Amino acid sequence: MRSKVVTIDRHIIDQERNHPGASGRFSALLYDIALAAKIISREVNMAGLIDVLGRTGERNVHGEQVQKLDAFAQEVIVKAMDHAGHLCCMVSEECDEIIAIPERFELGNYVLLFDPLDGSSNINVNVSIGTIFSIHQRVTPAGTPGTTSDCLQPGSRQLAAGYVIYGSSTMLVYTTGVEGGVHGFTLDPSIGEFLLSNPHIRIPDPPARVYSVNEAYYSRWSEPQRRLTDHFRSGRDEGGGHDPEGYKSRYIGSLVSDAHRTLLQGGLFMYPAETRAPAGKLRVLYEAAPLALVFEAAGGRASDGRRDITSIVPTGLHDRTPLFLGSASLVNVAESYLQS
Ligand code: AHG
Ligand code: MN
Ligand code: MN
Repeated sequence: MRSKVVTIDRHIIDQERNHPGASGRFSALLYDIALAAKIISREVNMAGLIDVLGRTGERNVHGEQVQKLDAFAQEVIVKAMDHAGHLCCMVSEECDEIIAIPERFELGNYVLLFDPLDGSSNINVNVSIGTIFSIHQRVTPAGTPGTTSDCLQPGSRQLAAGYVIYGSSTMLVYTTGVEGGVHGFTLDPSIGEFLLSNPHIRIPDPPARVYSVNEAYYSRWSEPQRRLTDHFRSGRDEGGGHDPEGYKSRYIGSLVSDAHRTLLQGGLFMYPAETRAPAGKLRVLYEAAPLALVFEAAGGRASDGRRDITSIVPTGLHDRTPLFLGSASLVNVAESYLQS
């Protein structure tokens, strides 16, 4: 039996005591996100048994096929979050425009931005998938419907961010920023509670020698990106040095899964720009920025190759960015190659 059983609710209340200005303001928001995660987890774990596999036949704003579970997760989150009076609007990967709070519900002071189901291409083959979320404080006057200016804020101003990974177990990882640290909770489905399993997560540095990138795009990368990847493949650096131990490559193709492995083991995840995706594929608001806040709070880094992800001020709800995420020492190596 564990030394002590701490539920996410109890943890958030304790955090409230230790950091009065930190997690207390959106404890109810985080409870509701945890509730939505439990519902999605149940559906994901039964996906093979009920008719939630496959595609809806629609395409989203990115032209990507919408999977039934994408639409389901989207619906669950909106329904769990739209009536509690905490939000002035929401942004989802699956919706072109901002999601307004229905008039019959009270408006709040926060914005929720989320990727309801990340790694959709892996749903039908039983590979881990996830949900990513980001919380901002509104910047427009209280009591009015949220606007895009409430959403287009730099990642450095996030109040909280995190992800849920639906894998061999369902885990929720969140942070309220460097001060609050990063904490992981594992869902015990027998009691329907997220229990604290990974308190104060710190990314290992020196890291596990693992790099993670889709090398099928090698021919479409810039020359510096190719040289960076060659460095990891060969263990050779440009100063003539040779690191005989070298690196391993791991690429799952679900950002949440690749990020979670990198957070717990250390290493470097890369989704570079390439000729078919000159701004990269991953979206700033609900993929790169929330993960960047988690990694920075765990002692890691997140860069677009030149600057911190959390410094990017997006101009569009679905802006994309290249992403280099992981142990600070390896993100620094990536930047040194990419800026050469
Ligand atoms: P989503 O399913 O939310 O659209 O995200 C998919 C993303 C991300 O999960 C992953 O890192 C990336 O797509 C994989 O892209 P490639 O298949 O091009 O490697
Ligand atoms: Mn995604
Ligand atoms: Mn998605």
